[in-house]
Amino acid sequence: MTQELPWPVALPAGARSRLEAILAPLPEHRRTTFALRVARRLDELVAGLAPYPDPPALAARALELAARAYLEREDDLHLLDERRSLEPDWFQRPDLVGYAGYAERLTPEGTLSALGGLADHLRDLGVGYLHLMPLLQPRPAPNDGGYAVADYRAIRSDLGTMADLRRLTTELRWRGISLCLDLVLNHVAAEHEWARAARAGDERYRRYFHVYPDREVPDAYERTLPEVFPDFAPGNFTFDEELDGWVWTTFNSYQWDLAWDNPDVFAEVAEVILFLANHGVEILRLDAIAFIWKRMGTSCQNEPEVHQLTQALRSLARIATPALIFKAEAIVGPNEVVHYLGQGRHHGKVSDLAYHNSLMVQIWSMLASADARLATHALGRFPVVPTSTAWITYLRCHDDIGWAIDDDDARSVMADGHGHRTFLSDYYSGDFEGSWSDGLVFQHNPATGDKRISGAAASLAGLEQALARQQEAVGQEAIEEAQVAVDHAVARLLLGYAIVYGFGGLPVIWSGDEIATLNDADWAAVPEHADDNRWVHRPRLDPARLAAAHADPESPEGRVLAGLRHLATARAALPHLHASVGATVVAAPDPAVFVVLRRHPVGPMVGLYNLTAEGRSVPGWWLREQGLPVEASIDALNGYPPSLQPDGSLYLSTYQPVWLVRP
Ligand code: GLC
Repeated sequence: MTQELPWPVALPAGARSRLEAILAPLPEHRRTTFALRVARRLDELVAGLAPYPDPPALAARALELAARAYLEREDDLHLLDERRSLEPDWFQRPDLVGYAGYAERLTPEGTLSALGGLADHLRDLGVGYLHLMPLLQPRPAPNDGGYAVADYRAIRSDLGTMADLRRLTTELRWRGISLCLDLVLNHVAAEHEWARAARAGDERYRRYFHVYPDREVPDAYERTLPEVFPDFAPGNFTFDEELDGWVWTTFNSYQWDLAWDNPDVFAEVAEVILFLANHGVEILRLDAIAFIWKRMGTSCQNEPEVHQLTQALRSLARIATPALIFKAEAIVGPNEVVHYLGQGRHHGKVSDLAYHNSLMVQIWSMLASADARLATHALGRFPVVPTSTAWITYLRCHDDIGWAIDDDDARSVMADGHGHRTFLSDYYSGDFEGSWSDGLVFQHNPATGDKRISGAAASLAGLEQALARQQEAVGQEAIEEAQVAVDHAVARLLLGYAIVYGFGGLPVIWSGDEIATLNDADWAAVPEHADDNRWVHRPRLDPARLAAAHADPESPEGRVLAGLRHLATARAALPHLHASVGATVVAAPDPAVFVVLRRHPVGPMVGLYNLTAEGRSVPGWWLREQGLPVEASIDALNGYPPSLQPDGSLYLSTYQPVWLVRP
């Protein structure tokens, strides 16, 4: 007996019958599931579409896209949808580690089909989440490392095909690895068919972009707009001869910002999302999401509509392809970034993951200054995020490091924001006297004094300089000193990663860091990369170095590889690190020790990180106050009781991390 489908009352009869016609080929249980999901999410969808003139009508149109995607979704993915609905916290669990890199740089073959061969290495590191950098068809170089997409439905021809992507996601899933891809939704390449149609004079497509006949409106916007690439792409608008107008280009002149106030743009992107989800992609990284909505007189970042539209897209995905989750790439201040994980009416309805840029910046700041006070203050005032979400914690990624140190935070710890940012730039570019770092200055902005930094984690942590010293060392003393420098650099890199793994969230390894890969000396040899020194830290994963790391556990790469494997194993065994519990940073009596407290129902976990090359101690009474009597605790990083001083205080050796828990 066929029953009526459980559509929500709010869905008009016309919309229902159109959806039923689309779903007709499906068995009844599938149609029922779809209708139930619509009933569950319709309100969220319509509310999210509030920025558009007729939200219910657009919702009905979007639901048809969802129904078509649902119809095409293959059985293994329907099964995945079921499984994820039973374990919605899969990305929050402490046994999950992430990994990110360029598909063409991870294997010698450089293709999608070769990536299955990397699974053993990834599993060895505990990786269950793989973020492959942009791999959809970009414009010919330069294309901002693939972030200028010319076709969202094709894979870069040198990497493979859409069928290869589908096979890859299946193969990885068999190995316990979920695939994350970028969704570049703020802009398309100037060569994308929409942009080409706009240039050819098609009015419909001209409205996909922000185009102005003269400088009047652009100049008015420019008054409050920052510049993302002041060096190689100054300004936010580009004149296009064929358009005979100025087109909005926040990033490079060949990346045209989409006009998200046009409902057609919403529908197009929604279709792309469902299409990628149906290829088995499980996480979409919403690239530069902060920029999608423009408002005169503002920086055109973090506008409320951004969250509404994310909610609308998310609810559509939850209806058609619910295994798909979202990760926000919003490199913005603490008070703004928390909205991407859902605050107020968007709680639990937008992205599930977001980059913890501040933590990354503060780790590098602490390593350079050997002082936890600024980090403790800045991270301590982070608003609470929903328990169903997780931070992406990381030490390095493909981008530069911008010194996002807030002036007020700096003042609160008696420091000067500008002064500290300058110190960090100078420190990491190696210009500061006594610095161990080998970074490069990226996008120096003389107007603001900003100097961002490029560089591989190992080189920023001092390994490159230390190894050079080792090469040049003559005489016993110099050799010993160089060895100490190498040891310290390795320890700093592992300390940084220990914070990343011990903070709580989803820690992501930037490819190459696991074998302490140094700056790529040949980064500028590729002509299209030569003016973008971010390529210095986007090296190929070197199989010889990986083999050496396995063969020689005493080498720097061997120690780092073993260290990261160890962190993953220790982490997996600690329920305290489930992302549903928030991290609290606390000030230890010694400012050279960074402390992260995790108050989990199973008991507290105190992460202690010695930021210096000298031994440090933390008083026993103070640890007892945090809920952990030191005599009755173990260091989960080695399974033993921690080292105690005669006075009962806990001892931390050079750059030592300790994860204190009750046994
Ligand atoms: C993101 C990417 C960055 C890119 C930009 C424009 O910030 O991480 O690499 O340049 O978006 O797409």
